[in-house]
Amino acid sequence: MFLSDTHLPQLLPASAYTDPEWFTREKQSVLIPGWQMVATTDEIRNSGDFVTTTILDHPIILHNTDGQYRGFINACAHRLSKLTCLTKGNQCRLKCQYHGWEYDAEGATRRIPDAPGFKPLTSGQLGLVPLKTEACGKLIFVQLQQGGPPLGEYLGELGGPISEACSAHNFQLCSWSRVVDANWKVVVENTLESYHVSEIHRGTLGSMPAEGACQHRFGDRWSSFISPGGVPGIVGDLQRKLLKALGIGVSRTYQHLFVLPALTLSIMDDLVIVWTFEPVAAQQTRLALRAFSIQSPTRSALGDTILRYSARRHLSFWGRVWEEDVSLYPSVQQGMNAPLQPGPGLLSRREERIHHFQQWLVRLMSGDMSTASTVSS
Ligand code: FES
Ligand SMILES: [Fe+2]
Repeated sequence: MFLSDTHLPQLLPASAYTDPEWFTREKQSVLIPGWQMVATTDEIRNSGDFVTTTILDHPIILHNTDGQYRGFINACAHRLSKLTCLTKGNQCRLKCQYHGWEYDAEGATRRIPDAPGFKPLTSGQLGLVPLKTEACGKLIFVQLQQGGPPLGEYLGELGGPISEACSAHNFQLCSWSRVVDANWKVVVENTLESYHVSEIHRGTLGSMPAEGACQHRFGDRWSSFISPGGVPGIVGDLQRKLLKALGIGVSRTYQHLFVLPALTLSIMDDLVIVWTFEPVAAQQTRLALRAFSIQSPTRSALGDTILRYSARRHLSFWGRVWEEDVSLYPSVQQGMNAPLQPGPGLLSRREERIHHFQQWLVRLMSGDMSTASTVSS
């Protein structure tokens, strides 16, 4: 059921999706203060492994030091070069590619080539800029700005389900990313409603679920959606029989979790899909996907192999669904860019999660740092 009894106003003007100045303000007041999911523990599995990325113009390096995950700004304390331009690698100590300065696990300088040239500088006096780094299940988050709540508090009620869905028992199938020409909110809002299903996904998902089959829930910084799910048709039937044969409960539900500003999880019986929607520019967003398959209850190698195969097949089905969405984003963006608009827009009751998202944005953009927002019933 939906919470709202009536349609809801579109709270953001079209310029919120198009204007570079709006994007700059949004970065400062909405995006940078949030926790950013940047990698998984599987991606830096071994001590010394590192990955690099850029989030909201911040170059980041994430390093595994004996099982501790530490994030830093990827800029050297000597002459500010990026330590490395590799996207991943393994270094016991992080070392700068330019003149070879080396840093310890805390990011303090440890070895400086031709050190007497820097006297009276002492070892450890300079260092990398550390980022608060925390994991929830296999997902590793960093905070670009100090002072916000710890990750557990930030995720609130969703911390438990996310940790379980991306637990150490689950197997990361893949990671993948792609840049689309659309504002990040175009993408986020698309994922927050089932209204477009009958039109865009008729050939894959069928029609939008009946209101009585949908459940919307809202928290301080999150919302969720549960509906009947599962791959349709004979392929889906076979897949469910397989799961049952392996002792896995089949709920046949689709659960969609959204954590502000731009993290979503799709949780199904055999497959968990994690999306981050990373704003690159006012009209450009990088979509990053990680998918996990569950493990067999008996942890048998054969069972796990079968489950991974099944999850990959399931994922390819979702790949077709996303293509249907992704091909639409530029058109939505182009409509947002039209000099003359037919009005501010309108949200149906089924689109109430978008209203909740926009309420939160408006509140933070206006300088109100409180988090509670509601969809009235
Ligand atoms: S800029 Fe990194 S060692 Fe010189
Ligand atoms: Fe869609």
